[in-house]
Amino acid sequence: MKKKIALLGSTGSIGTQTCDVVAHQSDKFEIIALACGHDSELFREQVRTFSPKYTYTADKPDGMKLSDLATLDEVDIVVIATPGHSPLEAAINASLTGKILALANKEALVSAGELINKNCKASGSVIHPIDSEHSAIWQCLAGEEEISRIILTASGGPFRKTPKEDLKKVTPEMALKHPSWQMGPKVTIDSSTLMNKGLEVIEAYRLFGTALDQIEVLVHPQSIIHSMVEFVDGAIKAQMGLPDMRLPIQYALSYPHRLANPILKSMNLKDLTTLEFEQPDTDKFPCLDLARKAARLGSTYPTALCAADEIAVQAFLDKKIEYLDIPVLINQGLEHNKPVQSLSAEIIRNTDIETKEYVAGLIK
Ligand SMILES: NC(=O)c1ccc[n+]([C@@H]2O[C@H](COP(=O)([O-])OP(=O)(O)OC[C@H]3O[C@@H](n4cnc5c(N)ncnc54)[C@H](OP(=O)(O)O)[C@@H]3O)[C@@H](O)[C@H]2O)c1
Repeated sequence: MKKKIALLGSTGSIGTQTCDVVAHQSDKFEIIALACGHDSELFREQVRTFSPKYTYTADKPDGMKLSDLATLDEVDIVVIATPGHSPLEAAINASLTGKILALANKEALVSAGELINKNCKASGSVIHPIDSEHSAIWQCLAGEEEISRIILTASGGPFRKTPKEDLKKVTPEMALKHPSWQMGPKVTIDSSTLMNKGLEVIEAYRLFGTALDQIEVLVHPQSIIHSMVEFVDGAIKAQMGLPDMRLPIQYALSYPHRLANPILKSMNLKDLTTLEFEQPDTDKFPCLDLARKAARLGSTYPTALCAADEIAVQAFLDKKIEYLDIPVLINQGLEHNKPVQSLSAEIIRNTDIETKEYVAGLIK
C-alpha cells in the first residue's frame, strides 16, 4: 500500500525537494494533498504531475483551510514545510489525529511543542524530523538510551568571519547568500543570525527530551557532519552526508526503512580534507542566547521569540530595519511577553498575534 501524503508548502525549497523524492519513489508514496501560499505556474505544474485530490493556496483558500488538509482521514503522512508560524494550527490539529508529522518547520514545535507532544502521546501521532540536524540526531539515537549530550552543528552562516562592527552594513542580498544550503528567505536570514540554531536547540529539546544544557552548538563550516550525539561512556556518533535535504526528507517518509534512490549521491570520503569545529560567537550573534533564554523561561516565551523573529526578519527583508536591529527587536518582544499558568492552542495563538502586533508597532 502506498503511503498517502499531504504536502504543506509544496512550492518552497523543502516542498519541491519532497516532490522530487516522491516522484522517484512513486511505488511507495502518493501525494494526495498539495498546499502553498500563491497560485503559481509551479503549483499548477505540481498539480498536473501528482493529480492530488485536494489543493489549497493561501491567497485563494476556496473553503478549505491548511489545517483541513493536515487532518484528512485518508492522509498517512503530513509534510509540514511552510515557514514561521503559518502551520501552527495545522501542526497542532494534525498531532491529534494519529498521523505521522514529517516536520520541516521549526517554529510550530518551538512554540507549541509541549501541546503537540501531549497530543501525540494521546493520539499515537509521531514526529519524524526533516531538519537535517534533528534527522541526524534521530539517526544517531536509533537503539540508544544513555545520552550525555547532543551536539548540533551549524555552518556558521555567511558572516562567520565578518567582524562584528561590519555587521551593521549587512543587506538582505548579502544575508540571503547561505554558504551551504539553498533555502527559503526566512530560514536563510535566521541561519545568518544564528536564530535558526537557537530555534533548533529548542526543537531538539522538544523532540529528544534531554535537558537544555545537554544540547550544545558547534560551528562546523563544511556542513558534512549534520549533528552528533555523545553517550555516557564518551562514545560519539555523528551522521554525515553531502548537504542534500532530500535524504532527511526521504528518511522522514520511509522510516524505519532506508530506500535506495538514484538522486541521492554517495559521498567520496577521500574528498574530505578538513572537518573543522569552533565555538559559536554569541557576542556577535546574540540570537542564539535569546533562544536559550526563551527556552529557559518556558511558558509563552518560545512563542513570543518566534513571533518577534518573524516580524523582525520580514522587516529586514523589506529594508525597514537594519540587520543589527533583528536581535534588539526579538529581545524587546521577549521582554514584553507575560508568562501564563498553562498553555493551550488559544493562548499560543494569542501570544503570536499580540507579540507580532507589539513588535510591528516598534518598527513603525
Ligand atoms: N529549506 C531548507 O533546507 C530547510 C531546512 C530545514 C528546515 N526548513 C524549514 O522548513 C520550512 C520551509 O522552508 P523552505 O526553505 O522550504 O521555505 P520556502 O522556500 O520559503 O517555502 C515555503 C513554502 O510554504 C508556502 N507558504 C508560505 N506561507 C504559506 C501559508 N500561509 N499557507 C500555505 N503555504 C504557505 C510557500 O508558498 P508560496 O511560495 O506560494 O508563498 C512555499 O511553498 C521552514 O519552516 C524552514 O525553517 C527548511
